[in-house]
Amino acid sequence: MADSPVSTHDPKEGGSDSLDSPTPQQQKQMESAYANMRRKMAMQEIGRKIKHKIMVLSGKGGVGKSTVSTGLALSLAKQGHTVGILDIDITGPNVPKMMGLEGKRLHVEQGRIHPAQGHLGVKVISMAFLLEDEDTPVVWRGPIKLGAIQQFIGDVEWGQLDYLVIDFPPGTSDEPLTVAQSLPDIDGMVIVTTPQDVALLDSRKSITFSESLKVPVLGVVENMSGYTISGVTNPETSLEFAGPGGKKHQVTSGKDGKFSVTLDIFKQGGGKSTAEEFGVPFLGELPFDPGFVRGGDDGVHRIVSEPEGASAIAFAKVVEAIKMQIGKSDSQGLEII
Ligand SMILES: Nc1ncnc2c1ncn2[C@@H]1O[C@H](COP(=O)(O)OP(=O)(O)OP(=O)(O)O)[C@@H](O)[C@H]1O
Ligand SMILES: [Mg+2]
Repeated sequence: MADSPVSTHDPKEGGSDSLDSPTPQQQKQMESAYANMRRKMAMQEIGRKIKHKIMVLSGKGGVGKSTVSTGLALSLAKQGHTVGILDIDITGPNVPKMMGLEGKRLHVEQGRIHPAQGHLGVKVISMAFLLEDEDTPVVWRGPIKLGAIQQFIGDVEWGQLDYLVIDFPPGTSDEPLTVAQSLPDIDGMVIVTTPQDVALLDSRKSITFSESLKVPVLGVVENMSGYTISGVTNPETSLEFAGPGGKKHQVTSGKDGKFSVTLDIFKQGGGKSTAEEFGVPFLGELPFDPGFVRGGDDGVHRIVSEPEGASAIAFAKVVEAIKMQIGKSDSQGLEII
């Protein structure tokens, strides 16, 4: 009897009955502790099964995080990797639309959530799949929202993945912190910016924020960086274009009469200089491509509709740069706390 908890029990605290049959409150606490433990174990398991986890962030909204997240995922899938996207944006989840999965619902089996499969076999999990009505925004606030995110992450059955790309709502809010604390071994974050000053200022905030998250910055991507027009005219002919702000561009067509010229819709090079200023890698530029907007509307991503186009090529370059950064931190045995 020496080992029995009964021998150390103070009867004044509720009698031996409370050991045999816990009070409803104790029962609730036990269940919640058990659920937490199971969730933590599930997170560890998920962390083990997913080789690389990449967060996509920006300080400012509308700079193209979701376009970049889906583009990176598709570009990686095109290279033969198994890939998933986790869309954390509760208030404006639009990854499913970009992946041709609008209106889909998730498949739940034995309490585990199974991702939907989008273009090129990319597995997609989005808060949008939980919405009863896609036109009604979710207004969960604070702890409820973060608890839902944590639960969501722990309950998804991704299977084995080479890469998980995580798309966030704009700003340096609680969501990245919750994800960084929930998912072990995140490789790092990709910061998306446009060449505009205001977006750049905000991306600087994101870089500083990464230090508090203790997740390394893989680098900065400059999105909507220049719009290329091309055409055919007479061979070896000089042409002049007026770009935004009246800036003159001169170009000479080739022997076949083909020409192309890149106009800076905003500015150019801001992403690179921000990266340099903060001593983080510059991962490359993605062109301004109206096909992204159409793809967002009709559910066929640019990389799928034009797999050999300029945007797909630019994405492939950014993917290579990201892989290089991940390779570097792997070889340095970088540990993310
Ligand atoms: N390179 C690009 N060329 C042209 N349009 C683009 C490009 N990147 C993004 N867009 C368009 O800009 C809009 C915003 O893009 P997106 O939804 O990816 O931004 P976001 O940063 O995820 O926005 P939010 O902050 O609301 O989550 C979309 O209409 C998208 O199609
Ligand atoms: Mg978005």
